[in-house]
Amino acid sequence: MFGTLEKKLRPVLFFGNNPLSLIGGALTSAAAFVMIGFWVVTIFGHGGSQNPYLGLIFDLFLPGLFVLGLILIPIGIAMRRKQLVASGHVPSVYPEIDLKNPVFRRGIEVVIAATFINFVIVGTASYRGVSYMDSPNFCGQTCHVMAPQWAAYQVSPHSHVACVDCHIGSGISAAVQAKMNGTKQLVEVTFHTYPTPIRASLSVLRPARATCEQCHTPTRFVGDRLLVKTAFGDDEKNSVTRSVVVLHLGGVDSLSHLSGIHGHHLNHFEYIATDATDQNIISVKAHNADGTVTEYVSTDWKGPVKGVERVMDCMDCHNQATHVFQTPQAAVNEAMLDNSVNAALPFVHKEGLQLIQAEYSSHEEAAAKITSGLESYYSTQYPAVWSSQRPQIEASARTLVRIYQRNVFPSMKVKWGTYPNNIGHNDFPGCFRCHDGNHVSKSGKTLTNDCSVCHNLLAVDDKNPKVLTDLGMQ
Ligand code: HEC
Ligand code: HEC
Ligand code: HEC
Ligand code: HEC
Ligand code: HEC
Repeated sequence: MFGTLEKKLRPVLFFGNNPLSLIGGALTSAAAFVMIGFWVVTIFGHGGSQNPYLGLIFDLFLPGLFVLGLILIPIGIAMRRKQLVASGHVPSVYPEIDLKNPVFRRGIEVVIAATFINFVIVGTASYRGVSYMDSPNFCGQTCHVMAPQWAAYQVSPHSHVACVDCHIGSGISAAVQAKMNGTKQLVEVTFHTYPTPIRASLSVLRPARATCEQCHTPTRFVGDRLLVKTAFGDDEKNSVTRSVVVLHLGGVDSLSHLSGIHGHHLNHFEYIATDATDQNIISVKAHNADGTVTEYVSTDWKGPVKGVERVMDCMDCHNQATHVFQTPQAAVNEAMLDNSVNAALPFVHKEGLQLIQAEYSSHEEAAAKITSGLESYYSTQYPAVWSSQRPQIEASARTLVRIYQRNVFPSMKVKWGTYPNNIGHNDFPGCFRCHDGNHVSKSGKTLTNDCSVCHNLLAVDDKNPKVLTDLGMQ
């Protein structure tokens, strides 16, 4: 039995003893070793990476090498056979498979040596690929599609938290889902079929428990927070006004009372929205301590109240804690406050806002037109200012360009306001998605819209708020 099998194998090994087949064999075995190595690490170690783009290495690169090696073996055999047949060197009896035969032994040695070398090369390449793909640089930069989120991430308080920490869940099903997502995205990027703008959806993120709450303690009692908002006017002097708000942030106090904004949302709430970015919330359910459920339904909604229920967590309010997209007004106010847009330039608030809100087809066009627009405004309307304060004008123009390029991405159709920020209620619906005074329960209870439940307004658009003078803040 073994004898006949050995006889059948003899010609294969005889013709297989050629450089192409040997290299093929070595490639296949090296790729197999690396794949097995990574599987062992993923299953037993915690070094296993969850990055969705690893599909590139594990589903394409390594299996590709494995198959390439398998294809090279028969090609080498066929070529050598053809060569030997042509030159009439095919033996009538194929040499025995015998380790003592030096020719045969050298073949095996070559395969072992080549396997080892390939293993080191393929292994190092894959390992480096894994580390690279896990770095924020890869997610943010390699894929220009994410340029808007990358730009916003870099200036956020979370610029040192890895993308995968928030975006990819733990556990097998999350890993598989993320991997399929990653492969789908790669296909979309390759064939340019990705959506523009990319829609931001909370449902694909890890729950806050596994991300935010690793670093922030939701139960920490924060008490009241003083919020001062400075705004500049559209008049020649760019007049300053301030709003002063005391936010009742609360938390859990020493007596375990839930209070304020944070405290009240630590309860279990579920809501249903009709759009992917959760802007139109038609119903929200509050699970009360006594086990009952109060459902508040929007009186504006006439259709059936059904859809996917989402459990409210930190990210429903702090959806932009990482990818902060500013409003043009907020961005210019902030820049004028630190004087990177010079508040002494007449009408700079009005002109600056107009320039950054105009439509441009690319970042380059925006840079050229914002700069020339501001310069020509001062050189024609205020020649004296233009000649005496040219450096300030140029610096202000540079800041305006930076503001535009950090928030607007024509190539991805990301405009001002594309990504809503849910934290307040003045620029986007935010808190008023539920607290608009139109969400009412069956028993007639309205979800509060009372200004003072959330904050005390100490000053609104006030030129000279007395409270700030009293506090020594101006
Ligand atoms: C601290 C958590 C956190 C980190 C770190 C983080 N993100 Fe996000 N990301 C979010 C949240 C929350 C949203 C949803 C935003 C919204 O709904 O407006 C989001 C949305 C996105 C979106 C929009 C599409 C989608 O999948 O929802 C992209 C793209 C994105 N992030 C890429 C990145 C990249 C690239 C990095 C790393 C450079 C990164 N993120 C790091 C929390 C995070
Ligand atoms: C790896 C730790 C880490 C994770 C995870 C994390 N944060 Fe933070 N967060 C920080 C640190 C550190 C700061 C303070 C940064 C600073 O002051 O510059 C911060 C700041 C903040 C702030 C204050 C922002 C500001 O402008 O002052 C908010 C709000 C916040 N995080 C919410 C979140 C939310 C929501 C999540 C989940 C999506 C989250 N964080 C996940 C570490 C983390
Ligand atoms: C109902 C909306 C809402 C929810 C839910 C919420 N927050 Fe906040 N949070 C706010 C508001 C409003 C502020 C203060 C205003 C601001 O930061 O612009 C704030 C401020 C913060 C700050 C900065 C203030 C500080 O402590 O110094 C952190 C950090 C923070 N939240 C973390 C969290 C975490 C973690 C969760 C989830 C457990 C969470 N928040 C859930 C609305 C919310
Ligand atoms: C998804 C809907 C939803 C959103 C969005 C939302 N809330 Fe709430 N909020 C609720 C529900 C539900 C309650 C609890 C009502 C109850 O107890 O019956 C609540 C309660 C509160 C309370 C306590 C009210 C009271 O009567 O004492 C405050 C304060 C509050 N929310 C502030 C905010 C702020 C600030 C924001 C925005 C940053 C916000 N909420 C966004 C659903 C929401
Ligand atoms: C459900 C809670 C909630 C209710 C109700 C509410 N607000 Fe607010 N409001 C907020 C939060 C949160 C912020 C802070 C937003 C931020 O951090 O930027 C805010 C900020 C403001 C500001 C500061 C200016 C600005 O540009 O952000 C003003 C003014 C204001 N609210 C007015 C009102 C008035 C007037 C009412 C009553 C009709 C009201 N709010 C009701 C939550 C609420």
